[in-house]
Amino acid sequence: MSTSSHMYPMSSGHDQHSYIHNSSYQKAAISSAVEKTRRCIFEKLDLQLSSDFGTFRIADFGCSIGPNTFHVAQSIIDTVKSKRLEESTENSLVPLEFQVFFNDQPTNDFNTLFRTQPLSPEREYFSVGVPGSFYGRVLPRNSIHIGHTSYTTHWLSKVPDNVCDKKSMAWNKNYIQCNNLLEEVTKAYKVQFIKDMEIFLDARAEELVPGGLMIVIGECLPDGVSLYETWQGYVMDTIGDCLMDMAKSVR
Ligand SMILES: C[S@@+](CC[C@H](N)C(=O)[O-])C[C@H]1O[C@@H](n2cnc3c(N)ncnc32)[C@H](O)[C@@H]1O
Repeated sequence: MSTSSHMYPMSSGHDQHSYIHNSSYQKAAISSAVEKTRRCIFEKLDLQLSSDFGTFRIADFGCSIGPNTFHVAQSIIDTVKSKRLEESTENSLVPLEFQVFFNDQPTNDFNTLFRTQPLSPEREYFSVGVPGSFYGRVLPRNSIHIGHTSYTTHWLSKVPDNVCDKKSMAWNKNYIQCNNLLEEVTKAYKVQFIKDMEIFLDARAEELVPGGLMIVIGECLPDGVSLYETWQGYVMDTIGDCLMDMAKSVR
């Protein structure tokens, strides 16, 4: 079994198991951050620098197959348009066109993504698919005005090696996740996360134009709270127990 996350995209197609019908939790989290995102765009985005040649470029890293990514793109576009109207400089007389780059792993179901995207004129942007790991560059230097990613950075580039090594102190023997019960396991995941985040942020820093913005949304734990103490940790540990039982039954 591969320990690389690249082998496991979200469920494809449109049936009841598809990500399309199983992503309302992520949608709720994205919606709860809309106001903050809007404020951030209004306060921090430098429109003078970023709307060169009349094309405004947005990228969603780890977009999956929708529909959340479409809501994200439209919400960012609406906010940029409002900001532009409010600032109403000479530049805002030139109609702005939008281009949205949809990035995910090459194994993602891009066919479903593009088949289910809103139709124009409801869709106010030109779409581009960008297959490739966001743990590295996937777009040209200085090409993006706003980058967005939601519910993605917990997908590490790989399971830390020592977590799967029976001889290591960090062997995560009875669990399928880092639930913070074992200190060595927590440390191993932390080291991998720091490495991955550095690569992720370095790549985005090159891809964004100066004055652009990167929006990162995901689930975090307050300091001092362990995952096993939360309902999310509890649910994952229960699923883990079931998987362990299933694996033992076929030995
Ligand atoms: C839980 S989904 C989130 C989808 C969407 N952003 C949302 O909020 O609904 C996580 C997505 O991240 C993608 N992903 C994970 N690791 C990735 C990587 N290294 N490069 C690009 N995409 C990745 C997965 O394929 C998956 O589609």
